[in-house]
Amino acid sequence: MLPAFIPLLFFVLLSACSTQTQSVVFENSISIIPLPQHISRQASVFVFNTNTAVFCPSKKVEQEFILLKELFKEGGISLNEVAQLPQQNYIEIELKDTVANTKSEKYHLNIDSTRIRLTAYSPVGVFWGIQTLRQLLPTNFSQPKQNILWAVPAVDIIDFPVFEWRGMLLDCCRHFFEKEVIKKYIDCLAFYKMNTLHWHLTEDQGWRLAIDAYPRLTAVGAYRKEADSTIYGDFYSKSDVQEIVAYAKQRHISIVPEIEMPGHSQAAIAAYPHLSCTGQPITVANKWGVFKDVYCAGNDQTFEFLEKVLLEVFALFPSEYIHIGGDECPKFRWENCSKCQNRMQAENLKDEAALQSYFINRMAAFLEKHQKKLIGWDEILEGGLAPNAIVQSWRGMNGAKEAALSGHYAIASPTSHAYFDYDLQAIDLEKVYSFDPVPSGLNAQQKQFIKGGECNMWTERVPDEKTLDAKVFPRLLAMSEVLWTYPRERNYEDFYQRVQGQYPFLELKKIGYGAETIPVKAQVYTSKQSMNVKLLKGSPDLTLKYSFNDTVFQVYEGILSLQNSGTLAVQAFKNNQRYGTPFARQFRKHLGNGIVPELGYTYSSFYTGGGPQALTNGIRGTLDFRDGNWQAVQKESMEIILDLGALKSLKQLSTAFFQKQDSWIFLPEKVDFFIGTVAGNFQKVGTVKNDISPKESKVFIKKFSLTIDSVEARYIKLVAFNIGHCPVWHAAPGSEAWLFIDELVVE
Ligand code: ACM
Ligand code: ZN
Repeated sequence: MLPAFIPLLFFVLLSACSTQTQSVVFENSISIIPLPQHISRQASVFVFNTNTAVFCPSKKVEQEFILLKELFKEGGISLNEVAQLPQQNYIEIELKDTVANTKSEKYHLNIDSTRIRLTAYSPVGVFWGIQTLRQLLPTNFSQPKQNILWAVPAVDIIDFPVFEWRGMLLDCCRHFFEKEVIKKYIDCLAFYKMNTLHWHLTEDQGWRLAIDAYPRLTAVGAYRKEADSTIYGDFYSKSDVQEIVAYAKQRHISIVPEIEMPGHSQAAIAAYPHLSCTGQPITVANKWGVFKDVYCAGNDQTFEFLEKVLLEVFALFPSEYIHIGGDECPKFRWENCSKCQNRMQAENLKDEAALQSYFINRMAAFLEKHQKKLIGWDEILEGGLAPNAIVQSWRGMNGAKEAALSGHYAIASPTSHAYFDYDLQAIDLEKVYSFDPVPSGLNAQQKQFIKGGECNMWTERVPDEKTLDAKVFPRLLAMSEVLWTYPRERNYEDFYQRVQGQYPFLELKKIGYGAETIPVKAQVYTSKQSMNVKLLKGSPDLTLKYSFNDTVFQVYEGILSLQNSGTLAVQAFKNNQRYGTPFARQFRKHLGNGIVPELGYTYSSFYTGGGPQALTNGIRGTLDFRDGNWQAVQKESMEIILDLGALKSLKQLSTAFFQKQDSWIFLPEKVDFFIGTVAGNFQKVGTVKNDISPKESKVFIKKFSLTIDSVEARYIKLVAFNIGHCPVWHAAPGSEAWLFIDELVVE
């Protein structure tokens, strides 16, 4: 195991030829990410000086050599190119290339006190070796200082990735990111030996790629009118794309463009309405979600359009892979379109899922004709997978498994571990680090079909570079290490320490990285008598301070015993700086506390609210439906029975529901309340109807309360009626609606 991160060590030497003191500075702690496969360390160091030479006889790594020289120039060191191996103090780059090795990413970096030798079998291997060398150098190396000799520890590193596909998706449609931001991300991907930028370029909310044959795609499709009437939009010109692709190529990053079809195509349809089933004019979407206007699968003009677009895409992107989306395509328009229905008849397709499969297969054949490989989201499995298609599994790992079982390649990016748009509550650094890109239940041969993984950075809620950086970093470092080193035994503490050692590098790259984890979690131990709260630190190096009902903040130690209802506020600190977002939760003392209700439903494993006691544990759900306190079911209604254990005089019953209609979460139609004095014999005491429209687009919590007149009862029953399905006006009409509940308060 590598030593934990400790600060820079300085060795002070007296230089031989002058009376000036020169410090040899090197990073004593090795914090390389991703962790090399094999690393051993000697006690000595290699010291760079003004005579350090570089010997690189192979012309095939000219580009890598240029980047190496630039890297050292930034640190104030001009490497002297030599034509013959010198006696000492040199870097030697050796390319052992044979035809068989052109794709090998392996490198061997051997450093002793006299020389650095980097050996690889391909230019990409040389490039990864240079990234490792940079990570061995002190961070502040690129800020040249007088009287300092930079050095690196003597190490022997033999390294190679386990997965060939190590990617990050960047959605530049929901929000647009400037060329310079894309380049910054390419630099970072390369620094962490990720090799794929999956560039999401077309969406409902904006088409971002200039296409000569269809100028309205950008003239119209790149701009949306926001709810406040401002215009939002931009796009990449062909020369922007060429510049970015070339920049990426130099850094061994492949850019895989994603051109979405048949769904997520509202911006294209806004530009060219004849591509939809209705042909009616629509606008570029200005809300988030899934929209029902999609490309018409019955109209040959759709395919002519997409083929022409793709020909221009092929010309721009050298990638052998093209992503065609394929996810979240509502079938509502197709069900009601004579052209689509005619196509289904003519092609003998049994349903709209088969029509989607027809669509994807037709595009796959076109790609194949042009020697391009098709990647699509796991929905492309529905209705039959195109012969050589690659599946990107996002709705869990089943898509990857199904693909591998049928001999198709797969890329794993499940929402559980790889969605960097999710907040830290759902996916923190440790969760990403625990990611297993190989689905369970595959034999050794089937496992070969898992090409690797990706993290997905969707940007609905990422309006700017600052937010982007805070979401991607440091989580990207975990993804990088998982995909490079798998299935090595993982030690999160060691990784966490190395991440601390990477922060100075991220600062140099002007990355505004975020927190590793949510700073605090509350565990609530509620019984009939007491409500005790244990605060868990997100990581051991944090200090927590808390306040209950606005008391002065004090350092948290031990367990808090809450005597009344109120608000608990907590702030974490790391290195004496505020860390992460402040935490606040409301607690409620009531007669039901600590009683385990009988639930007439099976709650979602994603939204348990903390388990069987979620509704009576006293802690209330917040405006974040993923905060762990909401309990949810899809499509079903909820029936809850509570036994108070003895007759109690009741004054009020209340509960709360959540609405976020673009996430398919709706209030119940109504809630019926019942009470009883003996088991199984209930008397209805009232109904509270929902008086807020399901169309309400705000995110909010609504209480459903019933006041009763001090009636004695032991049993309480509540029935909350799910609206069942998303209504016809909804972006995903007919989809199963969610019902989210928290706390059944009994007074
Ligand atoms: C996806 O997140 N819709 C692929
Ligand atoms: Zn149609």
